[in-house]
Amino acid sequence: MKEAFAIAILAAGQGTRFKSKQAKVLHSAGGRTLIEHVVRAARELPAGALFVIVGYQAEAVTAAVQAIPGPVPGFGVQFLRQEGPLGTGHAVRCGRADLELAAPHLMVLSGDTPLLETSTLRRFLESHMRSEAAASVMTADLEDPSGYGRIVRGADDSITAIVEHKSASPKQLRIREINTGIYCFQTRPLFSELERLAPDPITKEYYLTDVVGLLHSRGLAVAAYKASHPAEVTGVNTRVELAEVDQLLRERKARALMLSGVTLLQPANIVLDPDVEVGADTVIEPGVSLLGRTRVGEGCRIGAHSIITDSELADGVIVKPSCVITESKILDGASIGPFAHLRPGNEIGPQAKIGNFVEVKKSRVGSRSKASHLTYLGDATVGEDVNVGAGTITVNYDGEKKHPTVIEDHAFVGSGTELIAPVRVGRNAFVAAGSTINEDVPPGSLAIARSRQVSKPGWVAGRKKKLAKPKTSK
Ligand code: UD1
Ligand code: CA
Repeated sequence: MKEAFAIAILAAGQGTRFKSKQAKVLHSAGGRTLIEHVVRAARELPAGALFVIVGYQAEAVTAAVQAIPGPVPGFGVQFLRQEGPLGTGHAVRCGRADLELAAPHLMVLSGDTPLLETSTLRRFLESHMRSEAAASVMTADLEDPSGYGRIVRGADDSITAIVEHKSASPKQLRIREINTGIYCFQTRPLFSELERLAPDPITKEYYLTDVVGLLHSRGLAVAAYKASHPAEVTGVNTRVELAEVDQLLRERKARALMLSGVTLLQPANIVLDPDVEVGADTVIEPGVSLLGRTRVGEGCRIGAHSIITDSELADGVIVKPSCVITESKILDGASIGPFAHLRPGNEIGPQAKIGNFVEVKKSRVGSRSKASHLTYLGDATVGEDVNVGAGTITVNYDGEKKHPTVIEDHAFVGSGTELIAPVRVGRNAFVAAGSTINEDVPPGSLAIARSRQVSKPGWVAGRKKKLAKPKTSK
């Protein structure tokens, strides 16, 4: 079937019902833009060419499609321009120069049906090719068909026309078989009819759906193919539908993870992006978000309300509740949080501990090292078995540049220390609590950098007496 057909995805509309400045197909459901879902489903088919028709925010839509990762089998996506969104029929007609020559058959999809699966498209295509019809329409029976174009069938059950909801008569509105907006056409008759298309008298739009009636009136066959899973062809026209589709896509992902051995507590409250991977026997608590390309190993526990983006967690990692972890790598058995913030560029070593209210940025923390409380580590390299005391701060920024801090293996940094970078604390060194360190600490030595304490015996009682005096003098 190769080269026999091309695919065009319509993505030039604004999506008025979204009431958004952003093109509808750029809104996301289940962690991907609507257009990305459709392109991914379409590109698995052995088409001779894949076109996306862009118009409203064409540059942004083009960029979003070009950013879709992964191998594109056999062809790249080509972009065609629709000037002025004058309807779905106009959109296809705008691409005539390229589409008509691309292949003898053209599959047309909408950019707003994100649940669509490749296997469904494949079966539809096969049925179209077998039927030898001039056009095939994928239809679906819906409980609530409102908003969709209705399929009008003749006495012999063949499709005679598609009427849009807005133009349908009360009788036609009762038809529950709808147009999914997914079609296969023989390319030549499609474009001859598109030339004859008249705009809708009310909306002034050129409807691709009217081609069906035109083909029928010429005595050409229009075949119907009923989708076996109607939910799959849901078109997203409002943000209410976006939320419903998002929920469905998230559920699909959650289900797949649970069946692969991951425990999700209250799965409906867990946000999982589609590319996220999680190993068996990991437990994910309520309210967690695992986003982007995050990979979590086996036997981990991710605490409630933590948000982990584009990060890699090895096996047995414990993330306690309410952590924010971005673009970081956490090795086996490390423990993070609660309330820790790992900004981009960290590597936290095996069995290391990053405790509560600790912020870490662009830092490496070695095996078994601990920063248990209230610390900032920025641009730091921390060796193995280091203890970073409560309230330690790497002073990495001088107002112009960032500077590195190195804390070597087995060093002990006392609580409340400021390490003014660039600075190095040597192996086995000991920094006394409350120090402000602005010179390197040699290995094995004690550094103490704070003013000596003065204690004044009896001072408090003396002060009390002094404060009491003015009252008695009155
Ligand atoms: C369309 C169908 C309707 C069908 C429904 C299925 C028409 C006239 N109606 O209606 O029968 O039941 O899909 O979901 O085709 N687009 C353009 N250029 C335009 C207008 C739209 O590229 O000028 C694109 C949109 O970006 C979108 C797709 O075409 O991706 C569908 O447009 P939309 O406005 O959502 O059509 P519906 O009203 O849903
Ligand atoms: Ca639609």
